[in-house]
Amino acid sequence: LTAMVSSALSTSVLAADMTVGFSQVGSESGWRSAETNVAKSEAQKRGITLKIADGQQKQENQIKAVRSFIAQGVDAIFIAPVVQTGWEPVLEEAKDAKIPVFLLDRAIVVKDKSLYMAVVTADNVLEGKLIGDWLVKTVADKKCNVVELQGTVGASVAIDRKKGFAEAIAGHDNIKVIRSQSGDFTRSKGKEVMESFIKAENNGKNICMVYAHNDDMAIGAIQAIKEAGLKPGKDILTGSIDGVPDIYKAMLAGEANANVELTPNMAGPAFDALEKFKKDGTMPPKIIKTESKLYLPDSAQAQLDTKKGMGY
Ligand code: AHR
Repeated sequence: LTAMVSSALSTSVLAADMTVGFSQVGSESGWRSAETNVAKSEAQKRGITLKIADGQQKQENQIKAVRSFIAQGVDAIFIAPVVQTGWEPVLEEAKDAKIPVFLLDRAIVVKDKSLYMAVVTADNVLEGKLIGDWLVKTVADKKCNVVELQGTVGASVAIDRKKGFAEAIAGHDNIKVIRSQSGDFTRSKGKEVMESFIKAENNGKNICMVYAHNDDMAIGAIQAIKEAGLKPGKDILTGSIDGVPDIYKAMLAGEANANVELTPNMAGPAFDALEKFKKDGTMPPKIIKTESKLYLPDSAQAQLDTKKGMGY
């Protein structure tokens, strides 16, 4: 990184001359599409050329895209890493080419942290904990069987959101996670997995709450609950993460209960840090944290209103 800093100091690239390659996960969720849209508008605002490669939820596609950005000699690379392991070789290549790398919304596990400049992310353990704390308060000492729809297997956010929820309900013996499976962060898989949970649990009658690692899976689950003749939000409570417009609409309809908002503006803080670094070598903090807040139905309309112009 010292070499990177001195090269930044000597070249001092203007934003208008910069090209950034963005290896995006895919378009698995409404939140993901909004993140892509916000990245485009944040780049445009700054006069930065942004090249986006859709990884279609596959790490091998993302690695290929990063290699191609390196070959093109871009000024920086943004990666939203689909899974948290297996990034060392390609990041070594970027480092050798003196191209700074920023991680967006998901973290990675590497021994050598100098392989990337910074990660812009929420505290995903806290997100899971906020939903868990809400459930503990809501059910008090009533028995509550939870089914969990996990995000993509191996994704840092899925691991952390699972952990945070488990921490919050630990010691509350009336609350149990009775089933937990990946719905890959998509609406269709969320629905499919929820259907199988409902079938296995006395047509849903044994289920008190569905905890989904993102809103799209929760919306799929809501559909499955309705099709089973039950009332989402009442017979089966819901808690999920993202804050996409459809979840606030579901809250307004009484079909969803608790939500933690995740900003889709991950690129903005990364561009800010990149511009500072290119200007005078300022090193950003390793973790650039975005806010995580719980919203309940009473604030759903206000939240829905704030989503206009946010890339959705
Ligand atoms: O990494 C962020 C997560 O990825 C979002 O919560 C989810 O919707 C997306 O697929």
